[in-house]
This record gives sequence, structure tokens and C-alpha cells, in this order.
Amino acid sequence: FEHFVSETQVTPELAESLIDRAEAFKQGATPAVATPYYAANLFFENSTRTHTSFEMAERKLGMTVIPFDPGHSSVTKGESLEDTLRALAAIGIQVAVIRHSQDNYYQPLIEANVPLHIVNAGDGAGQHPSQMMLDLMTIREEFGHFKGLHVGIVGDLAHSRVARSDMAMLTQLGATVSFSGPKTWYTKDFEQYGDYVPLDDLIPQVDVLMLLRVQLERLTPAEKAEFSAESYHERFGINQARYDQMKPGAIIMHPAPVNRGVELASDLVLAERSRIFKQMHNGVFMRMAMLELVCGK
Ligand code: CP
Repeated sequence: FEHFVSETQVTPELAESLIDRAEAFKQGATPAVATPYYAANLFFENSTRTHTSFEMAERKLGMTVIPFDPGHSSVTKGESLEDTLRALAAIGIQVAVIRHSQDNYYQPLIEANVPLHIVNAGDGAGQHPSQMMLDLMTIREEFGHFKGLHVGIVGDLAHSRVARSDMAMLTQLGATVSFSGPKTWYTKDFEQYGDYVPLDDLIPQVDVLMLLRVQLERLTPAEKAEFSAESYHERFGINQARYDQMKPGAIIMHPAPVNRGVELASDLVLAERSRIFKQMHNGVFMRMAMLELVCGK
């Protein structure tokens, strides 16, 4: 495993074994990464969870983390991503964790044989493999399996790399996926993975209600001008009445950050069914497992 960039690299068997390893790390297992090992995190898009938890995972694995700030790097002088990575590799960086706004940014870098490992921390509306893996870990902790589960993915599908990674892997693992939210965001690429179901019909059916953040920063100026948080919440958000319609044992997930009062009522963020902060906690151990797969002995 030279690079970890996409859901397409993950078989159901690998997904299960990464979850096993992440669970072992959660119980205090010893990492198998040679030290010293040098990592850099290149976040060209903002992040709280993914950036911090990759850095926590690297430190827990015994890696040395070399700071990289895109805004003060020579990328601002026009240096390409490939030349940036070649420079970091020449300096001694062995793994680069990268978030970038461009879909598939990693493909030309891999084809150019950049001399370090790449771990994708999110590319545009493409893939978010570490979020997918921590989501799977959280679901398996809850239910013990994937086969036969019904997962409803609700919200800003069009801009969501989380939806794209999760829907593909969940269906491979034997779960049924359905979609809801604004119907214009249910585009052709979702049809092969699941049906669109009106929200109030979907809620009582699902084991997992996976909410997606409305990515205001990716809306066009016209879409942004039209967007109303109140109207979205009324039509597509989870309020107490909708929460009460969920099946016994069903859970709410959200990759976060949450737009409180939009996708989810503010006072439901910490509700009993919410696994939002558990997802973040699991993310550290899952990122340890992913980094070990790529960088391990
Ligand atoms: N879920 C997620 O990717 O959050 P951040 O953007 O804060 O990393």
C-alpha cells in the first residue's frame, strides 16, 4: 500500500481488518512503524477534525510531525504541488497527508512517482477515505456488522466527498443506502447506489441517519443567495418530532462540522442517538491504522 487515496482501494476484507486494527489501537496496541519517521500535513482547505486527528495519530504512532503551512509556503510563489512534495521528500518527509480543493489531485502525483507516501485527507467533492473508515468503525461498534443495515444519507449530496466514499463502501459491505434532502442534489451518480426517499418516509426505516453539512462555501453565489437556514431545517433538518420517529436503536451520524439548527436542531447534537463525537474519537485510531498500513514495518 504505497498511497491511501480512495475508497476504490479498499476491499470489504481490508475495511474489516483496518477496523480490527483501529479497535486494537483504541485498546492500547503497540504500533508497528519504524522510528524516526517523518510526516507532514498539507491542508490547502481548512479543517479541524481531520488535520488534528491525523497529527494526533502520527504522534501516537511515534512519528515526528514537521509543520507545513500552505499560506506561508512557496506554493504562494507558484510552486506546483508535485515540486512541493519533491522538495519535502528531499528534506526527509516520508508521508504527506494532503487535503486539497481539486478533485483527484493525487492522480498526477502518483503517476509522476513522487518519492513519498500520500494519504488523502479529502479532495474537492471526490473522496474522503479516512472519514469513510471512521464512519464504518463507528457503525460496526454499534451494530457489529454491516449486512442488512439501512443507512440514510441526507443533505448536501452534490458537494459531499463523504457521501461518495461512504455510499460505495457501505453497499459493498452489504448495507442498503437511501438518500434524501434537496432532490436537486441527488444527481445521476447517486442512482446506482440507492433510491431517493422523501425524508419523513425514510426516517422510520433507517438504522443509521447520516446527515451531511450544507457546504455553503461550495454553493454558487445564486444558490447562496437563495439558501435559507430556516427553510432547510423545516424541510430537511432533524428536529425533535423527526428524531422521535427513528427506530429503536437507530443512530445519528454527521461528519461535522455541524451547522446547528440547519441539518440538526442544536439541542440534538448531543442527544442519546448522536454518535457525532464518537466518530471524531474513533477517527484518531482509524487514522493510526491507515497510516500504519502505508508506513508500517
Ligand atoms: N469531517 C471533517 O472532515 O471535518 P474537518 O473539515 O474539520 O476536518
